[in-house]
Amino acid sequence: MRLNIIGAGHVGRTLGRLFRDNGLCEIGDILNRSQQNAEAAAAFIGGGRPISDSGELTSADTWMISASDPAIYPLALELAQTGAAPPGTIAFHCSGGVSSTALGPLSDAGIATCAIHPAKSFADPQACIETFAGTFCGAEGEDRALDVVGNLFERCGATIFLLKTEDKEIYHAATVFVCNYLTTVLDAGLKCFEQAGVDRPTALAVMGPLVMETVRNNMEHGPEVSLTGPIARGDPDLVRKHIAILAQWDGDVLALYRELAKATLDISRRKGAANATDLEAVRTLLER
Ligand SMILES: NC(=O)c1ccc[n+]([C@@H]2O[C@H](COP(=O)([O-])OP(=O)(O)OC[C@H]3O[C@@H](n4cnc5c(N)ncnc54)[C@H](OP(=O)(O)O)[C@@H]3O)[C@@H](O)[C@H]2O)c1
Repeated sequence: MRLNIIGAGHVGRTLGRLFRDNGLCEIGDILNRSQQNAEAAAAFIGGGRPISDSGELTSADTWMISASDPAIYPLALELAQTGAAPPGTIAFHCSGGVSSTALGPLSDAGIATCAIHPAKSFADPQACIETFAGTFCGAEGEDRALDVVGNLFERCGATIFLLKTEDKEIYHAATVFVCNYLTTVLDAGLKCFEQAGVDRPTALAVMGPLVMETVRNNMEHGPEVSLTGPIARGDPDLVRKHIAILAQWDGDVLALYRELAKATLDISRRKGAANATDLEAVRTLLER
């Protein structure tokens, strides 16, 4: 199988190298905007023909459009209109934020399309080569494309799970909650530690075991068992004190506290450890 890579940045070059190292395909053209970046990608992958002019694209069985999200649809349109990707071939992208419908022009031109999103951070492609096996990948699209491309990923050690195309955005919101917004919550906690006079290195040292234990409990036992603290116990007095001290210091941190506390009430109700009257008192405090 010959694979052309359109957009060999962090993800494109990592997957290209993995597919090649595992003997799964021959790397054909590697198209980037800059020739220098295409050459760097080819050197990293250890093969392929670096180009920066889409007019130079040659034929391939499979097209990986691993360019940045906003470029996916225009590239799909261009490949379909120029006929660079002929009917009967396969095209896929790796975005979590857009669905396989971004490849609509190719699908309309008779190319089987899908999207396979590795739920992993590719900040360091070299390190990702070592750690890719075991990565879970959310996949949706046409069966023929999913069979072929899913097999490439699985033979590199990934686990594919199927999504409905219409569920792609909510799926991506899930990854944003557990990855990006976890960072936001940790940042708020760090600010509070520092405001309490705990220096940053000590704060991070305190947070480490607390965060890891909480994550482990959630993974092993779920949110209802893992939730502890004033809202799990139903302690409106403590929540009132938190609100008062945060109000004196930082309105943004207070606003985040309120919203998180409201969402936490729902987990506490499911947990069932606090009495309903106390939880209602907490809810009333949070509405003010
Ligand atoms: N980064 C992650 O952790 C991660 C994780 C999962 C999925 N993804 C998805 O993977 C895809 C790629 O992300 P990335 O992080 O690898 O992005 P990236 O590092 O910014 O790489 C994107 C590459 O696309 C090339 N490109 C952009 N527009 C192009 C065009 N019109 N023609 C040809 N090449 C073009 C760029 O070329 P130049 O280098 O020449 O500018 C760049 O090398 C995205 O859909 C993203 O959502 C990313």
